[in-house]
Amino acid sequence: MLEFILWVRAILYTWCNLLLQSPYRYIMGYNKAEKQPVRVLVTGAAGQIGYALVPMIARGAMLGADQPVILHLLDIPPAAAALNGVKMELVDAACPLVKGVVATTDVAEACSGVNIAVMVGGFPRKVGMERKDVMSRNVSIYKDQASALEQHAAADCKVLVVANPANTNALILKEFAPSIPAHNITSLTRLDHNRALAQISERLNVDVSDVKNVAIWGNHSSTQYPDANHAIVTTNQGERPVPELLADGEWLRGEFIKVVQERGAEIIKARKLSSAMSAAGAACDHIRDWVLGTPKGRWVSMGVHSDGSYGVPSGLIYSFPVTCEMGQWNVVQGLHIDEFSRAKMEATTKELLEEKALAYSCLA
Ligand code: NAD
Ligand code: LMR
Repeated sequence: MLEFILWVRAILYTWCNLLLQSPYRYIMGYNKAEKQPVRVLVTGAAGQIGYALVPMIARGAMLGADQPVILHLLDIPPAAAALNGVKMELVDAACPLVKGVVATTDVAEACSGVNIAVMVGGFPRKVGMERKDVMSRNVSIYKDQASALEQHAAADCKVLVVANPANTNALILKEFAPSIPAHNITSLTRLDHNRALAQISERLNVDVSDVKNVAIWGNHSSTQYPDANHAIVTTNQGERPVPELLADGEWLRGEFIKVVQERGAEIIKARKLSSAMSAAGAACDHIRDWVLGTPKGRWVSMGVHSDGSYGVPSGLIYSFPVTCEMGQWNVVQGLHIDEFSRAKMEATTKELLEEKALAYSCLA
């Protein structure tokens, strides 16, 4: 009899648990299948940007709070001990999204199976240098790493080049990794885009999240053209064009452009090191918007291969305003380009063509 009572009690207990816990577990998401981890490569991971970027990725700032990741960290042999230190800290951070860490100085191992590659490794410019002054040291790295990505990365790998000269390094990577679709190779101008938003927010004393649709055209260099002609601020009265809100119309054509163009150099002067925290944040913003999509009505700036839009020579890696959807970027079309803007866009095109020629002469 006692056995029968215990048996009935066990059955009732199991059923009650199933009935009560299942909806709870469902609501809490415990029963949802966990996403497959995405493999993210960071080159130059022992450097300053790497050190700021890796924890951001580990905490979901790049791919979302529900996306597990396996981090692939690459640096060169002289930085192997520091790289191992980054790996130890990453383990100690105990981030639930991190499902594995590959820290290596072997480029083939680092690139193996990666879905996203953030190419930060290289030599940074120092006080008094232009970004193209680091050309000879960096383009040969990008040629070699192009081959490694081509051979070992996932077929649909998305690449972001951060190391300077970023547009031209990306161009070299594109040319030496012909099987990676050109659409998948991009360079970072999101930092310039964010700087432009921030300048307008300070000038108009509005929240930076209320400013949108600036555009960075061309090169991530002092010839870039930060363009706020189409920028918008959301106010209590609705959306207003930035040029209408500025009392001093000349600011947008003068100081604004200069400050954004020269911000990187100003930071190097102040820190004796190039920007790292803001660059890492911008790299996360770039990949997040590319993979997860830009919010409706908002565009961002990305260095992408030109399809001839706005008269930019086809094939150059040039920064355009883009929107992103389902993992694809599209250049924002139909913006009015006045004579002032056209001249600025042509000046930065000219520099990119010169950089391309210089890059090939460095590789010859
Ligand atoms: P850093 O010197 O602190 O780090 C660079 C790291 O790259 C170092 O650890 C170095 O050992 C490593 N490295 C060198 N050659 C390598 C190779 N062949 N493979 C893998 N790793 C290699 O420099 P940082 O401040 O982190 O800057 C990195 C790059 O990013 C620089 O080129 C810098 O100019 C550029 N940058 C670009 C932007 C942008 O907006 N596009 C912004 C800031 C900095
Ligand atoms: C930046 O814009 O901060 C970086 O590209 C570093 C540099 O060389 O200016």
